[in-house]
Amino acid sequence: MKCLSPSILAADFSKLGEQIAQLDEAGAQYVHIDVADGMFAPSITFGLPVIASIREHTERIFDVHLMIEEPARYIQDFVEAGADIITVHAESTKHLDRTIEEIKKNGVLAGVALNPATPLSALDCVLDKVDMVLIMTVNPGFGGQELIPYTLDKVRDLQQILERRGLKTDIEVDGGINLFNVEEVLAAGANIIVAGSAVFSGDVRDNTRQFLSLINGQGARY
Ligand code: DX5
Ligand code: ZN
Repeated sequence: MKCLSPSILAADFSKLGEQIAQLDEAGAQYVHIDVADGMFAPSITFGLPVIASIREHTERIFDVHLMIEEPARYIQDFVEAGADIITVHAESTKHLDRTIEEIKKNGVLAGVALNPATPLSALDCVLDKVDMVLIMTVNPGFGGQELIPYTLDKVRDLQQILERRGLKTDIEVDGGINLFNVEEVLAAGANIIVAGSAVFSGDVRDNTRQFLSLINGQGARY
């Protein structure tokens, strides 16, 4: 399934509940939640209480992207706060296998993210056990950056590897995606599109609908 996962990092936090309701109303299937600890990624975003409080505003899938050191320490807490998918960075832990097992043990879907400079070979041993691979199309930490073109080659290569191995793993992409490049990103093989600033600058509902119509292959509405 192809879907949109708007990143609330770009939302107006003073109206977070309201803006999430707008995403929901416009049909976005996921809500992308970027948690950064100032160690793994250079920014500090938000954490568990924020996730728990927005959980009451929508039933959509909470797609939690952990940009934190040794995330296994907090998996259960994120599940209790309302996560449906938890994605950890391969670079953030000495024990990737154990961390994936910890996510699955807690009954949610497991994703692994790769920074732009991390090769796909980092996934070789765990590919069979993850539900989603997140190919970062920018360096993690901040919204509003430009997509790094070579990361789309990684998306194409990953799609081929999955095909060869007979896996139906989701491919998510995150960073610098907008209404002008989303079709190229989809054509590379991604099926879950994260977008922050391109959704939240201007009219949230309208931007969401425009993304969805491109993702569903119905052409631009603008
Ligand atoms: C970057 C985050 C992204 C970011 C995307 O560390 O993981 O999810 O918020 O924002 P845009 O779409 O503005 O690049
Ligand atoms: Zn993210």
